[in-house]
Amino acid sequence: MPPKAAHAAPSADTHAAHAPRDDGEPAHASAPSRPPAHAAHAAHAARETLIRSNKYDAIRTAVFALMNMSAALMKTREEVRKGIAEVAAHTVERNRLTITAAEQAAIVDALLNDMFGLGPIEPLLTDETVTDILVNGPDQVFVERSGKLVLTPLKFRDNQHVTHVAQRIAAAVGRRVDESSPMVDARLADGSRVNVVLPPIALRGASISIRKFSKRNITLARMAQQGNISPAMLQVFKIACMCRLNVIISGGTGSGKTTLLNALSQHIDEHERIVTIEDAAELQLQQPHVVSLETRPENSEGLGAVSQRDLVRNALRMRPDRIILGETRGAEAFDVLQAMNTGHDGSMTTIHANTPRDAISRLESMVMMANGNLPLLSIRRQIASAVHMIVQVERMRDGMRRVTRVTELVGMEGDVVITQDLFSFRQNAGASRDDVKGGFETTSVRPGFAPRAAYYGQEAALAEAIKS
Ligand SMILES: Nc1ncnc2c1ncn2[C@@H]1O[C@H](COP(=O)(O)OP(=O)(O)OP(=O)(O)O)[C@@H](O)[C@H]1O
Ligand SMILES: [Mg+2]
Repeated sequence: MPPKAAHAAPSADTHAAHAPRDDGEPAHASAPSRPPAHAAHAAHAARETLIRSNKYDAIRTAVFALMNMSAALMKTREEVRKGIAEVAAHTVERNRLTITAAEQAAIVDALLNDMFGLGPIEPLLTDETVTDILVNGPDQVFVERSGKLVLTPLKFRDNQHVTHVAQRIAAAVGRRVDESSPMVDARLADGSRVNVVLPPIALRGASISIRKFSKRNITLARMAQQGNISPAMLQVFKIACMCRLNVIISGGTGSGKTTLLNALSQHIDEHERIVTIEDAAELQLQQPHVVSLETRPENSEGLGAVSQRDLVRNALRMRPDRIILGETRGAEAFDVLQAMNTGHDGSMTTIHANTPRDAISRLESMVMMANGNLPLLSIRRQIASAVHMIVQVERMRDGMRRVTRVTELVGMEGDVVITQDLFSFRQNAGASRDDVKGGFETTSVRPGFAPRAAYYGQEAALAEAIKS
């Protein structure tokens, strides 16, 4: 589910100052209203609406009329640039257009972006500060920057233009998106995840949601440095990995689950055989012995689908030491619990839930839906014995992603799964709307996995970490 635009701060200044940042870079100190930023922004906005101007239309029409498009697409972008620039200059002269050199260059760029890239949003793909790109019809392009959604001044020409870009994305991975199949998941060449929904299903025009593939390697150490986790959590996570705990990372959309899973996985021993299962490969495991499996949607005849459940079951026959499932969201929950319970300790997955308790209930209902005849009590017992730890992540008001709870499952009492918190993030009152004040707290209880840590020779390290 794409983040709701209603949560966005609809500031048009895409470079607005946001206090704490995920990436640890110092925030801009000044208010968003300082004059130079505004001036720059106005220029930017003017440039972006150029694409709906008569000047743009005139040049675009001339380019299409005078250039051989199929031949042009065989050339490189820079080769074609020359041709388009010539046509643009010629059109400006012939039609006596009032245009600045900068506008003319921007139009040439926009045309090139249409031919070789994703149109108006192409520059966002190379912008390292942008993590998500959300197109809601031709008039609205939101981005997530430093953990916050902001409206950009970018616009598409019209709905047809958005649809055209969406179709190019789908075609690049051999899929089709049109009125008869209006929803598609795809991937860009750089690994970014894309979802497309076309009208009439999308009421306000074609919608494109892109989760950019992060090239930055966000390690646990980096997270501790940025304040996503505390130094004590860092130590406990490393030990948890070493001791092969079964870990579930729980959180909302875009809260940083996959990123944390990636970071945790870096602490898995090199000698282990890891099988990863995902809908769209996002995990970047560094170990030498990894088998990565990806699900497949059904083809146009409704055949050939390979589900996560199929892959989890198959993975069990591949002699894995650990199974890493990108996200548990359906029938495969049952098989994952079985895997965790049957000698594939150290398995990890993520789940969409708002608290560790919620994560447990979601698991219960997923198992129940797939196996209607299993009694609830036995499902709970399975969960309690399979899952060792639930790590809750949250994207907080200030745009910062934090681990807000580390909870252990320590057994059953009657028909209730018993949990205990090792860490939490306590928010202090008095923070403003966009600000979060608070700190990480250690509960200082003896972790339920202490005996296991002792078995792996990590008892002292664990005691030290919890104490700090
Ligand atoms: N600790 C972090 N520091 C900086 N950026 C982060 C951090 N965690 C996540 N991000 C960025 O936030 C975006 C969302 O992260 P991620 O894909 O891990 O979320 P998710 O919870 O798995 O989302 P989804 O629910 O869509 O699967 C990514 O672009 C990622 O690079
Ligand atoms: Mg994810």
